[in-house]
Amino acid sequence: MCGIVGIITKKQVPICSSLVQKLKLLEYRGYDSSGLAFLNKKNIKVCKSKGEIKNLEQKISAKDMGNIGIAHTRWATHGKPSVLNAHPFLSDDKNWAIVHNGIVENYLELKSSLANVNFCSQTDSEVIAKLLQTNAPHILALIDVCNKIKGSFAIVAINKLDNNTLFVAKRKSPIYVMQSSDEVIVASDTICFENTGKDYYTLLDDEFCEVSLDKIIFYDKTGKVIKKSKTLLKKSQNKFSKDNLPHFMLKEILEEKVAIKNIIDYCQNNGLKKINKSLVRKIKQIIFIGCGSAYHAGLIGAKLIERYAKIPSTCHIASEFRYAETDIKPGTVFVFISQSGETADTLANLELAKGFITIGVTNNMHSTLSRAVSICLDIMAGKEIAVASTKAYLAQVLMLYVLSRHLQNLKFNTKVDYLSHVLDLLNVFEDIDFKKLDDIAKFVANKSEVIFIGRDLDYYLALEASLKLKEVSYIPSFAVPSGELKHGYLAQVDNRTCVVGITTQKNLHSKTLSNVSEAHSRGGNIVVCSPFDIEQKYLKIDVPNIDNDLICLLVAQRLQYLAYRVSVIKGFNPDKPRNLAKSVTVE
Ligand code: G6P
Repeated sequence: MCGIVGIITKKQVPICSSLVQKLKLLEYRGYDSSGLAFLNKKNIKVCKSKGEIKNLEQKISAKDMGNIGIAHTRWATHGKPSVLNAHPFLSDDKNWAIVHNGIVENYLELKSSLANVNFCSQTDSEVIAKLLQTNAPHILALIDVCNKIKGSFAIVAINKLDNNTLFVAKRKSPIYVMQSSDEVIVASDTICFENTGKDYYTLLDDEFCEVSLDKIIFYDKTGKVIKKSKTLLKKSQNKFSKDNLPHFMLKEILEEKVAIKNIIDYCQNNGLKKINKSLVRKIKQIIFIGCGSAYHAGLIGAKLIERYAKIPSTCHIASEFRYAETDIKPGTVFVFISQSGETADTLANLELAKGFITIGVTNNMHSTLSRAVSICLDIMAGKEIAVASTKAYLAQVLMLYVLSRHLQNLKFNTKVDYLSHVLDLLNVFEDIDFKKLDDIAKFVANKSEVIFIGRDLDYYLALEASLKLKEVSYIPSFAVPSGELKHGYLAQVDNRTCVVGITTQKNLHSKTLSNVSEAHSRGGNIVVCSPFDIEQKYLKIDVPNIDNDLICLLVAQRLQYLAYRVSVIKGFNPDKPRNLAKSVTVE
């Protein structure tokens, strides 16, 4: 999390505004405070603010001209969100200013090594600035500090004695450098390079660089100069406007149809070609890894692969799997799911997967994940700005569905025309009664707790629906397999509770309905999400009956919209939920 950017321009410009414009593109990485530093008449000037970047924007002055600066948007880990804890931080002699993304695990130890130094924040990051005790503007100073750090970092620093250099360091947190004829930009996401340049450099772990307008010099951690090559910036269709809609989350739910079409095109254009017969022959089992919504998509993927391709598959939460000491058998293929491709917990498992075939499923083909895996599948959902994932989750599920059918065809030499199912789905995708969902959202919004229940794939949808609702509406919520409801969870049900039963599979319908009625008998308020008939006493979210597993996507779309509406009804901003960031680059 945390977004960082550094800029050097050829001419003097209103540098604070330039930094803030870039920072806004990174706001999805955290928005509890922000700050910037720039060189002004040979001194470093700092401006910081609590809350969203618009608060910082109000504090800066357009009159402040400059040609070099750094900026940061924060998602708090050490120290609460406040102006004092916002970056940048200054060295003791005020010669250096730094912004940092990552975690300094040994910051207490490092702090105690600095006698007579005053710290003004509760953060781990400030120690990096305070360790910069030489005023000489040279990368070796930063390399020396970074070699003392345990943990992860992407750092950009400026020094007041050099108005033409950004000093950059990287370990386990992404950072990229782009140079054009009249500016250089260093940023934690290539999104900052769009409309600016055509290619960029990617720093790898324990690499450093000195960036100026006319040259970029890369170093390893011993200070030796190294050579690096550039990557072409993929042309993006990204538009950062809400298209006259009130929120990005709504816009992105409405863009799901386009995401589905993109995946159809991807398959028709041989996007899965690297997953071929010779690969399939080697697969003995598949292990899916992800966090949050990506984990929920993986649960569906594992189930579908077992169902269609008959390959034993399991899905694991990334932060758990890495410490599980699982015995990984030969013939295991790992599938890493991550819309950002930068989630630290997910990436940490790449270490365990060394020597095995790895497949990435991501929405960011410029990411660390896409570079690290053997095969990368691009879900092509287009940039997601709202922090809670909607279209990217849906595209992940669809990609895993087509993967399962593709593996089935390869393994059993069949020609299942699965894309025709996806095309059928498109025909009904917009048959959605928003008005009715708005009414149900009003009903849900005043409940004290919402419990989602379902069996098999419906349970995995329940997990995602519950996550989405609590992420954006803050209503306490959990999901439980329908059959487990009676094993303790019914204790939670009373007349302030809402129970949402998801039932899309004919053979399990009556079972889930029995569980729904157990909750109803105990005073629970019932909503059922189903393509099948139900008793009139329950509120119903209708789903077209498409008679195949892709019905998952129709349920997901409806329950995302429900969460969105509940958030808006309760007066929250669904695009920027509290305590959440889109790309979680710390463990
Ligand atoms: C955060 C985001 C979620 C996302 C999860 C995993 O929690 O807020 O929307 O599902 O991280 O992110 P990834 O980029 O790995 O899919």
